[in-house]
Amino acid sequence: MNEAVETVLFHETTILSRLDEMAREISADFAGRELTVVVILHGSMIFMSDLLRRIDLPMTIDSIRVSSYHGGTTSSGVVTFNQKTLPDIAGKDVLVVDDILDTGRTLRAILDRLREEGEPASVRSCVLLDKADARVVDVDVEYVGFEIGDEFVIGYGLDYDGHYRNLPFVGTLKAEYVKG
Ligand code: XMP
Repeated sequence: MNEAVETVLFHETTILSRLDEMAREISADFAGRELTVVVILHGSMIFMSDLLRRIDLPMTIDSIRVSSYHGGTTSSGVVTFNQKTLPDIAGKDVLVVDDILDTGRTLRAILDRLREEGEPASVRSCVLLDKADARVVDVDVEYVGFEIGDEFVIGYGLDYDGHYRNLPFVGTLKAEYVKG
């Protein structure tokens, strides 16, 4: 195990069996329709590749890059869209895939912008992790992998300052590895 990891919260096998359940639910809810998936980079890279391969529906996959954390463990509160144009979602059934819901500001800003500017037929959202106790703004999220406490997590796509995304599990970071 990586020396920076304090505890493992979810092992890969636990994550993948939860993704089987989520994918079954999503496949049933959207049966007969085509999904337009919008992935929020970079944190949901690993989550989305494991989840989407389990969904038994026709789909297109696009992405959005936003910045809301700037190298630390606390949200800046400012959500910056890193591209000028949004994916084309007009008239589509959209599933937004994000890694983790913390204060809710990032996903809320993305959902508001997609709904206001994209003219989709419908929008639902899906996150691997939900820190419900940390929520500052209301966000609708239909599919949640796991609820966790208000602690900073790494692995399975989640990073601290760009590191640890490739760990196959979700865990917490030792305090001594957080830059003062
Ligand atoms: P908000 O506060 O806007 O944050 O809901 C959502 C985004 O912030 C990042 N985030 C984390 N990244 N470990 C991480 O590696 C965490 O514990 C964590 N909490 C929030 C993430 O990019 C998420 O999309």
